[in-house]
Amino acid sequence: MKFFADTAEIADIRELADTGLLDGVTTNPSLIHKSGRDFIEVTREIAGICPGPVSAEVVALDFDGMMREAEILRKIADNIAVKVPLTPAGLKTCKALTDDGTMVNVTLCFSAVQALLAAKAGATFISPFVGRHDDIGFDGMGLIADIRTIYDNYDFRTEILVASVRHPVHVLEAARLGADVMTAPPKIIHQLYKHPLTERGIAGFLKDWEATGQKI
Ligand code: E4P
Repeated sequence: MKFFADTAEIADIRELADTGLLDGVTTNPSLIHKSGRDFIEVTREIAGICPGPVSAEVVALDFDGMMREAEILRKIADNIAVKVPLTPAGLKTCKALTDDGTMVNVTLCFSAVQALLAAKAGATFISPFVGRHDDIGFDGMGLIADIRTIYDNYDFRTEILVASVRHPVHVLEAARLGADVMTAPPKIIHQLYKHPLTERGIAGFLKDWEATGQKI
């Protein structure tokens, strides 16, 4: 499963890129706002740090406006994936862009039939938001399972990008279900390393090593 960082914070992206485990980055207008940076400038910087797909979202709601913004975004770097919302205009834009060889991430997916539409429109990535789905009492991971079944039934190449990840168990379940990608805030990616027995094990070994009086 590929790991994308869901952030526009450069320091966090650099730190994750240095681990060698970072496969891509996703941003959205809220994350750009939080970064306080110029959208085009920060997106260019991110695309220079992470060679994998970097999602940059359009804000227009109509086809012509989305195509105009996509034109600007895809010129930023070769690894930009244009992010469009799951609406009729968004999917029309998706079709036009993917036919032209541009990566497209279809975002704000909350149902399996929406995901079916995105795959038919040729999306590179579909982003089902599991956390926001759970928040309103629906089963976010059930949605991922349904999309996996549908895509496998018809051999769709669209990658399932599990988004709105809130905790490590979402990552575990996404991997169990065979999701292609997950995107999570850096804090959650760092949590994946942690286990109390690992920490207790290290402390025990260090204590015994000190008692030997040896040095390496
Ligand atoms: C995905 O691409 C989105 O940026 C993101 O995962 C949304 O997550 P949130 O529900 O935590 O805002």
